[in-house]
Amino acid sequence: MGTIVLGTGSCLPEKRLTNDDLEKMVDTNDEWIATRTGIKERRIAGKGEEAYILATRAAEKALAQAGISAQDIDIIVVATISSHMIMPSCACFVQKELGAANAFAYDINAACSGFLYAFDLADQYVKADHNKKVLVIGAETLSARVNWEDRNTCILFGDGAGAAVLAYSDSDRGIMASNLQSDGSLWNLLYMHGPQSTNKDLQDKNNHGSHILMEGREVFKYAVKAMEGSVRDVLERAAVDVKDIKLVIPHQANIRILNKLLERLQVDEEAVFINVQKYGNTSAASIPIALDEAFQAGKISKGDMVLFCSFGGGFTWGASLITW
Ligand code: UT7
Repeated sequence: MGTIVLGTGSCLPEKRLTNDDLEKMVDTNDEWIATRTGIKERRIAGKGEEAYILATRAAEKALAQAGISAQDIDIIVVATISSHMIMPSCACFVQKELGAANAFAYDINAACSGFLYAFDLADQYVKADHNKKVLVIGAETLSARVNWEDRNTCILFGDGAGAAVLAYSDSDRGIMASNLQSDGSLWNLLYMHGPQSTNKDLQDKNNHGSHILMEGREVFKYAVKAMEGSVRDVLERAAVDVKDIKLVIPHQANIRILNKLLERLQVDEEAVFINVQKYGNTSAASIPIALDEAFQAGKISKGDMVLFCSFGGGFTWGASLITW
């Protein structure tokens, strides 16, 4: 008995930006990017592809797969750090686009871990009231939030959205355990300023623009250790052996981070879903996009155990285990 996923969906912008394209923009090359990150190309939003539009398209697919209408949704939670406006939330724009008149909607910010945080929130709503149906979305247009002259960061990120509809099931399926963590004392290893304050007293002379800044090496080190801890915690609490996991769907940040993590956890290569080569790091959207692709590819069936894990700015991190 628990919270299950009724349907998934994803939406990627049309435009591809390859490593060769990036070579013409900053001092980099395909070989460096591919070997250090595993990324070959990423998608970049064009006109009419704001985060809420990508989110809405992903949500429409998830609703169709779930066999329910937008009016059946009670709560919309969007995880994002790159909505086109600060207010209203991305989730309110999605509500408007979908015509989900019976829902209340809000965003959460947990950077790359946003989808897992939203997934856990949805689980709590559904556990508290078995009639609730929650639309959980990760949506990003990070192309609008990177410094395109900074080769340390602009090669890493991409745009996209993924969605899942969560609801109660009285079967023996559902979310088994989640672990969410954060450490705000490490904020300055990965961050993004907002717009400069209009209140002179609150103006920050270090605000050089609303784009991502990162100490890549430090992030790498923490990411592997932190995700390993969260994964071990959910496996232990659910009394599940890692060998029994059908598919691990990690946040798609960097192939080397993932390989290190999977080596430490002793997960077989064929039990991991990886699409970072196609989309780069899409932050909060990466897990739901990968989940949707894995499901569409027939890699997950009813009764399979699926494990998610993530790490991002904050720092925030976590893991979640579900019987599909
Ligand atoms: O969701 C979490 C988000 N963040 C991440 O996942 C990032 C985690 N970190 C990483 O993935 C890696 O640290 C990076 C891929 C960002 C960087 O790889 P690295 O092996 O840690 O490289 P580095 O930053 O130590 O840089 C090594 C060299 C430097 O040159 P020097 O000082 O040795 O001459 C950099 O200036 O590589 C240089 N470099 C580049 N060269 C070509 C940095 N970026 C590039 C680039 N192309 N794009």
